[in-house]
Amino acid sequence: MNGSTTLLTHTLTANISRAASKSLYSSIATTGLRASYATIRAPSCSSRRNFSSTRRTQLEFFPPPKNTPNIKTTPASWPHPTASEEQLKQIEVAHREPRTFSDWAAYNMVRVLRWGTDLATGYRHDPNKPYVMNERKWLVRFIFLETVAGVPGMVAGMLRHYRSLRRMKRDNGWIETMLEDAYNERMHLLTFMKMAEPGRFMKLMIMGAQGVFGNGFFLAYLLSPKTCHRFVGYLEEEATKTYSYAIEDLESGKLPAWENLEAPDIAVRYWNMPEGKRTMRDLLYYIRADEAKHREIHHTLGNLNQAEDPNPFVSEYKDPSKPHPGKGIDHMKSKGWEREEVV
Ligand SMILES: [Fe+2]
Ligand SMILES: [Fe+2]
Repeated sequence: MNGSTTLLTHTLTANISRAASKSLYSSIATTGLRASYATIRAPSCSSRRNFSSTRRTQLEFFPPPKNTPNIKTTPASWPHPTASEEQLKQIEVAHREPRTFSDWAAYNMVRVLRWGTDLATGYRHDPNKPYVMNERKWLVRFIFLETVAGVPGMVAGMLRHYRSLRRMKRDNGWIETMLEDAYNERMHLLTFMKMAEPGRFMKLMIMGAQGVFGNGFFLAYLLSPKTCHRFVGYLEEEATKTYSYAIEDLESGKLPAWENLEAPDIAVRYWNMPEGKRTMRDLLYYIRADEAKHREIHHTLGNLNQAEDPNPFVSEYKDPSKPHPGKGIDHMKSKGWEREEVV
């Protein structure tokens, strides 16, 4: 266990014990998820582990890469575009008002899902009510959300790939952006998995959520891809909000264990985090920008003709001097680009 993990674990365990002693957990409807974390015990400093009810001997599911005789390293398939500190700080919480019935249906679906997830992860962030979040609860939420967030891009990419095969027509560049979206979400998950491990109950919930959401999204995408992209746009509005609140909490001193916490190596490499800007705080800024990018991508794709239009995020423009969508976060539009602006 390295220094930063020990620091996090130590403080988190203290937080959990404190919260448990105040019966904080018993006041909220329990789903069993919390119970598995609240039962963590800390007999000695060396055996303290937050976020887990799994025995230490079983904690082997995320081993470091194997040192094989021939392979030096396996770089990211989709290198992350660079972003300046100023750009990362400019990301804003935004909402695109629903304009059609399909938008309205997508938005309300997200609201229902958000309510369920808040309940399951013990999340509450209401300035008018007592503060209930802590580092452990934020990690529970991040991990659960990221296991779900990686589904839509992969399903959409796969279905568009199948469609291209069976209709024997080109896809116009959408598939790769969808797969990249899924890859980026999985990198969020793998980063958080370097900080904590879910207990058995949460693992079960993650499997259940994937079964329901993965199949539901598959069917919905076959019926109305446009509604699905709008749905993901709204989901990403919520993700951007979630990470903005976590940053706010960290910067206002509510999450002391994260104040000097270093970002894991996997994150430093993936985001190319510059020297001196490799803390948990910096990491949250990077992830929030990714979520805002997904928000822009899916709201934009939700405005396009699904069968004919090229993917504006990988296209070359006739007038490149005019602001247009791209891979990075320059000229990012929080509510997506309208069809007339790009096609
Ligand atoms: Fe994410
Ligand atoms: Fe996302």
